[in-house]
Amino acid sequence: MEAALEEVLAATDPAAVRTLFAEIADKLTMHIESEEQVFYPAVKAQRTEDILLESLEEHLSLKRFLADLLPLDPAQQTFEPKFKVLKEQAEHHHKEEEEHLFPKVTKLLNAAQREALGSEMLALQRHLEKAGEPREAVVTQTDAAAPLR
Ligand SMILES: [Fe+2]
Ligand SMILES: [Fe+2]
Repeated sequence: MEAALEEVLAATDPAAVRTLFAEIADKLTMHIESEEQVFYPAVKAQRTEDILLESLEEHLSLKRFLADLLPLDPAQQTFEPKFKVLKEQAEHHHKEEEEHLFPKVTKLLNAAQREALGSEMLALQRHLEKAGEPREAVVTQTDAAAPLR
C-alpha cells in the first residue's frame, strides 16, 4: 500500500495519476471494509476496544479524504496536498494498527484463528473487487465512523 502511495506522488502525467489513484482508492476501501466488517468485530474485546474505536475514527478520516479526492482532477492545485495528507494519515494508521492492535490480537487469537480471519478478509475483498469500483462506497460513509460491532 505504501509503495503504491509513493507511486502516485512520483507520477507526473495527470492521466497516470488518475489511474494509480483510482487503484489505491479501491485497495484502501477494500482494506477498510474488510477490517470493519470482518477483522475488528472478530478482535473486539475489553483490551482492544479503545484502539478499535480510535481506528474507526481514523478510517472515517481516510474515507473523507478519499471522497474529497475522487472527483478532483489531479491537475488541480489541491489534489497533491490533499493526497499527501491522506498518505500521511494512512501511514500513521497502519503504524498504529501494527504497533498497538496486532500485538493484542496475537494474544486473543491463535495462529489458525488469525489465518482463518485473513482468508475471510481476502474473500470479502475479492467479492468487493468483483462487484466493481469498490472506492465508490466511501462516498456514502463520510458522516460518521462505522460502529464497532
Ligand atoms: Fe485500518
Ligand atoms: Fe489495516
